[in-house]
Amino acid sequence: MSRPQHFGWFLARGFGPHGWGSPSLDWGYRWTEPRLYQESARLLEQAGFDLLIIEDAPSLGSAETIDLRVRHAFGGPKHDPLLLAPYLFAATERLGVVPTVNPAAVLPYTAARQFASLQHLSGHRLGLNVVTDTGSARHFGTAPALGHDAAYDRAEEWLAGVRALWRSWDEGALVEDRSDDRYADGSRMRPVAHRGEYFSFDGPLNALPFTDGEPVIVSPGGSGRGLGFAGANSDVQLALAPLDEASIRAYRGRIHDAAVAAGRRPSDITILFAIQPVLVGSAEEADRLVARSLDPDDETIRTIARRQSSDLETDLTALDPDAPLDPAIFADHVSHGSIRRLVGDHDIATTPLRTLLAAHARLGRLSDGSGFVGTAAELADRIEELGTWGNDGVLLWGDLHPVSVHRTLDELVPILRRRGILRDELVPGGLGANLRAF
Ligand SMILES: Cc1cc2nc3c(=O)[nH]c(=O)nc-3n(C[C@H](O)[C@H](O)[C@H](O)COP(=O)(O)O)c2cc1C
Repeated sequence: MSRPQHFGWFLARGFGPHGWGSPSLDWGYRWTEPRLYQESARLLEQAGFDLLIIEDAPSLGSAETIDLRVRHAFGGPKHDPLLLAPYLFAATERLGVVPTVNPAAVLPYTAARQFASLQHLSGHRLGLNVVTDTGSARHFGTAPALGHDAAYDRAEEWLAGVRALWRSWDEGALVEDRSDDRYADGSRMRPVAHRGEYFSFDGPLNALPFTDGEPVIVSPGGSGRGLGFAGANSDVQLALAPLDEASIRAYRGRIHDAAVAAGRRPSDITILFAIQPVLVGSAEEADRLVARSLDPDDETIRTIARRQSSDLETDLTALDPDAPLDPAIFADHVSHGSIRRLVGDHDIATTPLRTLLAAHARLGRLSDGSGFVGTAAELADRIEELGTWGNDGVLLWGDLHPVSVHRTLDELVPILRRRGILRDELVPGGLGANLRAF
């Protein structure tokens, strides 16, 4: 038997019309209503997944480029995943649900109280994907947009404040003694007078302490600062890295070093590597799909250009595809990481835009580690191999529609179970208990 691993599902386009352009929409589900997500969440729970993470970005971006973001629903609209979470908890019993939150958008006291309420309501199954998007600050009436590292500083102060509030009821503060007619002991509550660089607030928190642990903290940042944040603060890190042994071990090593530097144990953090699988019925079909992707047709190139235009808030569809890209077209606020991802290893000065876009159409095979196209058995082989390198688990990446969940899991789950990689069922006690079960 292989070593068991943890499994997460990442709703990568957030709580929005993420199926736009997909035939699955014709199944008649409305993205604004909970049924679509509830049914999918039940399938994930049945499969033995630890958690479902819901991407979010609170902003539609800059006023001049909103149409690029909404025209094909790549960048919005998005509803607040925190408010979807209770519906998913109500539809399941053991699955962890992890909405994305941005410390720029919710004050620590409000955040601590809302998350505490949900942690109790859900039977301790809440997680929070803490992100540091800086562009949306202008919507919240707080400080002007921060730089990359300062946004992490603010996130650390925010999280420390939230946790201090959660811990503001000392042991014994909750009495619940009917014979003495005493519910709680106010002398055992800490005032928590926080005066920091970004936030000032007082406690204690007007919510009960937890019996089965605090909400699980998840983080996705991959920069040095992001890995440091994870090492010091996170229970789960979402990792984007090539899935070869050297990259996996190097990434895990950096998180573990950061954990030790912060006085924690490497085993305190579950690292989930992202996989965006394209599962097909046979190896031959997978080979055909990959071969076809090397020479994408015009419609595919157009779709990639639209998606990149949304991410980059820059209209690439209006440019000559056979000319190189002029870097001056990108406004100052456009993410440098996104521009780097578009350009890849090419020379931006000489490479035609069409070549840059075509590179994003290119698929690879699961069987040789060059990509994510393959059969369920090939995906299971890949996940099993990750386990031999000490991997904790994987994050399957896609939309959240019962059709997609079935398509990905129907064949895969029995194979993983037979090999002992996927647990038979989740344990009671909440998300933390499941993450610590092995
Ligand atoms: C798996 C994964 C999930 C992410 N989810 C979100 C998200 O929901 N919202 C968001 O604003 N950023 C998200 N990000 C981006 C990161 O939070 C972060 O902004 C980005 O990685 C830049 O930070 P870094 O420079 O530390 O990598 C995600 C990244 C990854 C790899």
